[in-house]
Amino acid sequence: MKTSSRYQAHKPNAQGLISYSAEEHSVWQTLFSPQQAQAKQYCSQVFNNGLARLALDPARIPQCAEVSQHLQQATGWSVTPVPALIGFDRFYQLLSSRIFPAASFIRSREELEYLQEPDIFHEIFGHTPLLANPDIAEFSHHIGVLGSQARPEDHVWLARLYWFTVEFGLIRENGQIKALGAGLASSASELPYAIESPQARRQPFDLLDVLRTPYRIDIHQPLYFVLEGLDQLLELTRTDVLGAIHHARALGLHAPLFAPKTALN
Ligand SMILES: [Fe+2]
Repeated sequence: MKTSSRYQAHKPNAQGLISYSAEEHSVWQTLFSPQQAQAKQYCSQVFNNGLARLALDPARIPQCAEVSQHLQQATGWSVTPVPALIGFDRFYQLLSSRIFPAASFIRSREELEYLQEPDIFHEIFGHTPLLANPDIAEFSHHIGVLGSQARPEDHVWLARLYWFTVEFGLIRENGQIKALGAGLASSASELPYAIESPQARRQPFDLLDVLRTPYRIDIHQPLYFVLEGLDQLLELTRTDVLGAIHHARALGLHAPLFAPKTALN
């Protein structure tokens, strides 16, 4: 998990509202409609149904409270603004309370296509449609519960399960591979890459493999895992994931498919 950010978090006022500038709303507007069109083509029905249900304004960054109203009705979740980067402890604790922590800043125009840190476009456009789905809401809650029970040294192992499902997971729908994860749904360049690029590997979802697969946050993923359906996510809530982490630890990480991060990248 990164510990520094070059973006400044916006502080909510006493009513929990954040004030954004016209330029910030305009960045949201630039991102929203093209990505909504891409999502129709590449994202799962699960995602697109959630996006429709939230009825987000294409021209204005929404307040967390507005999105929470829709989510509360759908699944009992809410979204709350947090500083750009929070630790695993706080992250898992919030998920276990069915609260999704959302970074409040929005990316600059220089980083429209890809940025390494989650901004509010990623959090709201990418994550909250998924949290309107009861199965994904349940799975996300379970990750929070597991993270709160896990030993601190296991947090990073559990994070790989979250990464390869809720963030960068693929799912088979009506025989076609679609993007499920929020990291894909909110990325103009990685979304088509994940579905169409011959350079990306797509493997069947396997819990032990997922736990053992290292990832980098600052590149397009070289490998994606494909769920056969949301039942597979729900099944994980009845699986001994912490036991699987201990097993995965004993087996060790798979060799990375990416170059190590250097000073040049
Ligand atoms: Fe995310």
